[in-house]
Amino acid sequence: MIQGGRPLNGEIEISGMKNAALPIIFGCLLVKDRCVIENLPVIDDVEVALNILKDMGAVVEKINKNTVAIDATEVKGGSSSVNLVRKIRASYYLLGAEIGRYGKAYVGVPGGCDFGCRPIDQHIKGFEALGCTVRMDGRYVTASAPQGLKGANIFFDIVSVGATMNVMLASVCAPGVTVIENAAREPHIVDLANFLNTCGGQISGAGTDTIKIKGVDSLHGCTYAIIPDMIEAGTYMIAVAATGGKLKITNVIPKHLESISAKLCEMGVEVEEGDDFVTVSRCGRISKINLKTQPYPGFPTDMQPQMAALMCLADGISLLTEGVFDNRFRYTEELLRMGANIKVNGKTAMIEGKVALKPARVRAVDLRAGAAMVIAGLATPGKTEIENIYLIERGYDDLVGKLRLCGADIIKIKELED
Ligand code: EPZ
Repeated sequence: MIQGGRPLNGEIEISGMKNAALPIIFGCLLVKDRCVIENLPVIDDVEVALNILKDMGAVVEKINKNTVAIDATEVKGGSSSVNLVRKIRASYYLLGAEIGRYGKAYVGVPGGCDFGCRPIDQHIKGFEALGCTVRMDGRYVTASAPQGLKGANIFFDIVSVGATMNVMLASVCAPGVTVIENAAREPHIVDLANFLNTCGGQISGAGTDTIKIKGVDSLHGCTYAIIPDMIEAGTYMIAVAATGGKLKITNVIPKHLESISAKLCEMGVEVEEGDDFVTVSRCGRISKINLKTQPYPGFPTDMQPQMAALMCLADGISLLTEGVFDNRFRYTEELLRMGANIKVNGKTAMIEGKVALKPARVRAVDLRAGAAMVIAGLATPGKTEIENIYLIERGYDDLVGKLRLCGADIIKIKELED
């Protein structure tokens, strides 16, 4: 529950990146040794990923709340729990990791946020190029490489974060050289490559659209710290732009936030960059803008709902185009319940700003949509209640605690009922 209309002032520390932590946790399956992963965010999706590995026979030891040791030596392939796998989309990284280690895979069909269909045809294209035969029925994905894996050249039809990471996992120990063209360039792709290289992998070009993977015989354990979460940071940057006030957001890599900072500056928000922090403040009016989400380094699709909430407060009509997913505007119905004036036409939402939003009882339809509702509630005077906050807690580490530290009047009602 949020009593909105108050500015945010103070300091927020950013946690490790969910979308880097998940592939790296599953990447530990490739290593018959002990890996220590640091700077993990305390979020439900990480818990699910660790439970999947534990359930498969990995030794998972919590060293502190942000550090685990994972030893997958005893893991049996094809033994992941369908019920656990279905909880998170990132389970599809089990495919690449099992193929990489055993030359075959048997994994339940992944779950995850529902915004349009989310096929894995590019992942399968990559696995087949490496010598796998892949079959997918309604429940399981089965892959096998009767003649063994062999490095290959793969040209992705579309830029895909998941497919790029999955082929890296599948090919890091495959004999020969694998070249991925039209690869995704997100910072978490670089993080996974750096993790695998720290384990003895030979991956170059991550972060560009061409990645080269020279297969190695085996990987060894390591200690690795996850990069900060650019989407968590971007969410708080937009939150203070919406509420007004001044936030110092620490433990970030400003370079990863450039597209977000640029668009906020266009809207009249002040962004000051330090070595490992950004200070964001807004005291005047918010200008309308037009924006299209794109793969990195473009404006991230995972910031699209949060930006829509801010555009509701801008002067004039903003155009927001979703350039990555088919249908990622379901959350706008919840903003309409708060009085927003939004018209969605295909991939573009037309958002009329300066409409005074009204507090309401709304719900999170997915992780980033939930974050958008928090932003709208914080910026709107009165009591806004958000349901299904478990979806937010899948990907945001202590969101309520971090916001309360900066003056937000926000509580988790279930705590009151306990
Ligand atoms: C990852 O999803 C993230 N999830 C998403 O974050 C993020 O929105 C997305 O990358 C884009 O950055 C995780 O990392 C767990 P894609 P992913 O493959 O890998 C289509 C969040 O909120 N496509 O880059 O599924 C796909 O449908 C989540 O943290 C195919 O057609 O994204 C989409 O339209 C939400 N065939 C586009 O490509 C494929 O084989 C980009 O998807 C694969 C993808």
